[in-house]
Formats: sequence, structure tokens, C-alpha cells
Amino acid sequence: MYNLGRKRMKTELKKFREPQRWGTRFGIIMAVAGSAVGLGNFLRFPVQAAQNGGGAFMIPYFVSLLLLGIPLMWIEWTAGRYGGGYEHSTAPGIFHTLWQKNRFVKYFGVIGIFGPLIIFIYYTYIESWTLAYSVFSLTGKYKTCLDQKSMQDFLSGFQGLQKNGYFSSLSWAYGFFIITFFLNLAVIYRGITRGIEKFCKYAMPVLFLFGLIIAVRVLFLGTPDPQRPAWNSLNGLGFLWNPDFSALKSAKVWLAAAGQIFFTLSVGIGVILTYASYLSKGDDVALSGLTAVSMNEFAEVILGGSIVITAAFVFFGPMATQEIAHSGAFNLGFVTMPLIFQKLPLGAMFGAFWFFMLFLAGITSSISLAQPAVAFLEDEFNLDRKHAVILLGAVSFLLCQPVIFLLGRGIVNELDFWGGTFCLVLFALIETILFGWFFGIEKAWKEMHKGADIKIPGVYKFIIKYITPLFLFFILGFWFYQEGLPVMLMKGGAAADKAYILGIRLVLLLIFVVLAVLVKIAWKRKK
Ligand code: ALA
Repeated sequence: MYNLGRKRMKTELKKFREPQRWGTRFGIIMAVAGSAVGLGNFLRFPVQAAQNGGGAFMIPYFVSLLLLGIPLMWIEWTAGRYGGGYEHSTAPGIFHTLWQKNRFVKYFGVIGIFGPLIIFIYYTYIESWTLAYSVFSLTGKYKTCLDQKSMQDFLSGFQGLQKNGYFSSLSWAYGFFIITFFLNLAVIYRGITRGIEKFCKYAMPVLFLFGLIIAVRVLFLGTPDPQRPAWNSLNGLGFLWNPDFSALKSAKVWLAAAGQIFFTLSVGIGVILTYASYLSKGDDVALSGLTAVSMNEFAEVILGGSIVITAAFVFFGPMATQEIAHSGAFNLGFVTMPLIFQKLPLGAMFGAFWFFMLFLAGITSSISLAQPAVAFLEDEFNLDRKHAVILLGAVSFLLCQPVIFLLGRGIVNELDFWGGTFCLVLFALIETILFGWFFGIEKAWKEMHKGADIKIPGVYKFIIKYITPLFLFFILGFWFYQEGLPVMLMKGGAAADKAYILGIRLVLLLIFVVLAVLVKIAWKRKK
């Protein structure tokens, strides 16, 4: 009897617990910038730019930033803060508060928990490689790898794709994964202020410091090979930035630019909504949102745009850099960069800086990807943080296993397709329409300016209502036709992988359905 009473009291108390809030404005900006600045800035961006017209890529990139990225950042900060006022920190509840009369809209919000969870699963594993490589660099584990081939073998051995003289099993990769995974959980477990905010407040300045050191080092590489004076940093920058305007005629280039804006700013995922829900009613969103965008763009265009391609050009020349850029972001980050650092004095230290910077960029993003699922369990099921984190930890740990053990089977690409591409654009389209049309642009505009430290240019009222949704609609259509449909129908790719891809799709469907059912149960309980 006594126990029952105590239990009930605990449950009742939980219902009335203090809502979580950010401690300082600097803290939330660092947390949002931390979510945005990630592996995408340093690895994905230079590869996308090099593959899609070089300097000309920056035209669709900045158009997408102005018409999609910045408006979406403001929408998510504002909608998140608004939903937070109703004790909702995730998309189902936030969407419901934006359009209270509609009973169905909360189900669209499931994408805002599903998407980040799916990205978290593969992102954390890749993030763990950066931690491993920073240790490898310091300890000289790959110091005998002096050409592309041996460094590639080292990477494949580490990933368990082949057994070789460097690695005979996956145990190193698995060990670093466990460390990274539990570090993520530990930060989230400590909560918004004591965990995420505190961590990002220290991690972000360190990340920028390391980024600057490496960028300056690369820009002062000079001409290491006197036989080839043209292979220098300035020409390296030119290689990336000289525009090929003919690229602008291709829809693919525009899609790539828009996709990069989504991924890099972490908009259309659901995570900014969740972070913004921990703001207080009168907190500024206009200037803070813009500041987070600016920090991300500095990290991406100035740092990300100066490091990898420039360094590759200086050491390997234009032909090889072209090939390297086309071989993808992982090759550039985990094969080319360590090789380059090996050629520099104090290379082990610079290598460690590079990989540790990537690790900080990664972890400040991955904690934001896990937070929506935890917040959903806390808000809608009154779970305390400990139980919410344990549940998220158990489910995502299980889901990481196929990523680790079936890496060569196209699982990461598949998860990135659904979680990191399709869901982003779809979710962004839904939230923009909801915000500008159903919540209503007049109300939305007022809400954006509550407590605002700047006045948003009036043209953005028009952009948010008409241009952003139209742009998103076209992107979704083009993308679906050009890339989405062939991937969905599993055209291309190895025949042997198809069974695995199908299997992972079934798992994804199951997760989505479970989340939708949980939303249904949560709302039923509330009634
Ligand atoms: N925004 C994060 C990145 O760029 C996800 O990696």
C-alpha cells in the first residue's frame, strides 16, 4: 500500500517537474552551432564543391542558404520555442501546437524523431573512426603507410572489410565505437544545461582553434616539391574555387547544393526544433539563429574550404586531387589527409589535431541527433532522463550493429538516403507549410520577433510563405525523379547487397511504425 502510494506520488511529481532550460545564450548558440558544425563541414562540403562546379557551386549554395537554410533555421528556432512553451520538445507535439485543430498532423512529426535517430546510428560509428585515428596518429600506428594503397588497406583493415597486416579483426573499431557511443550517452544523460550546454561551451572553441591551426598550416604549405612549383596552396585554393559556370545548368548541382545546406545546418532534421524548445518565451531567436548559421558557414566555407582539397593539391597535384575528390569524403578524410600529415614536420601532432577536431565536430552533432528521441520519451511518456537514455541507448546500440558488421553492404548509404536526405527535405517542406500557412505567417512573424534582438528583413515574410516551400517542393520533385526513384527501386549497386538493403528497409519501416504507435498512445494517455 505504502509502496503503491510512493510510486504514484513519484509519477505525479514527474508530471510537474521543472521544464529544462538553457543556462546562457552563449550556451544555446554553441549547442546549435555544435549541432550544425559536423563532419559535413570538413569532409562532405569540399567533396561536393569539387564535384559540382568548384567556385560555381557557391552560387546555388548561397542561393540555397538564403532561401532555404536561413529561413528554416528561423522557422525551427521559433516553432521549437513556441512548442516548448506547451511542454513539447519534439516534432509531433510541436506540430500539434502549430495546428491544434488537426488530429493527424502530429504523425508527420514522427519524421522529426525517426530521421535524427537513423542518422545517429551511422554518424556515431563514423565519428568513432575520427577518435580512433587521432589516437593512431599520436601513437604512430599508421606511420608505415606511406602511399595511397597502404593507407587505404589500413582503413579497410580497421573497418573490418579485409584482414591484413594492420588489423586482423574489428576489435579496434568496435572498441572505439563503444567509447564514442557511451560518451554520447553520458553527455545526454547529464541533461541540457549540465550535459549538452556545458560540453558544447568547451568543445566548440577548441574545435575552432584546432580548425584554424590546421587551415593556417595548410595555407602555408608553400611548394614542398621544388620540381613542381605550380603545386602550391594558392593554386590549391584556385582548384576548389575557380568557377565552372557550365555546371549551373545541371539540376544535379542545384540539388547537391541544397542537400549540403540542409545537412550542414542540421535543418529539416528535427534537432533544432528540440534544442529551441528549451528556450524561454522571451529569448531571442532571430539573432541567435543567424549567429549559429554564421558560425557554421565560417567553419564550412573558410575552414572546410581551405583544408582538405588545398592540402591534397599541394602534395598530389591537380590530376590526383580530381580523382581523390571523386573517390569520396571518407577517402579524403581517412586516407589522403593522414598521408599528407605524414609528410609534414610534427605531422603526428597535426594529424591528431585534425582527427580530434573532426571528433569534436562529430560528437557535438551526434548528441543533438539523439536528443529528440530522449526528449520524446521524457515529455510524452513522463520517463525520467535516466530511463529515457537507457531506452534510447539500448535501441540505438542494437541498430548500430548492422552498420558495423555489414559496412561493406551499402547499409550506410541506405540509412543516409532515408535519414540524411529524403526525410530532411520532406520534413522541411511539411514544417514550412505548417508554419507559414496553418500557423499563419502573420502570427509566425510576430512570434519570430518576440524578444528579438534584430528585425528580420520584411522580404523574409514573403520568402517563408511562398519561396521556401516552392523551392522545397521543386527540390523534392527533382530529387525524387533523378536520384530517389532509382535508389528506391534498387537500381545499380551490387546484386549481393540487395537482400541486406531490403532487410534494413524493413527495420526502418518497423521503427517508423513503432514511433507512430507511440505517438498515438501518448496522445490517448493525455486525453
Ligand atoms: N550538421 C551536421 C554535419 O554537418 C550533421 O555533419
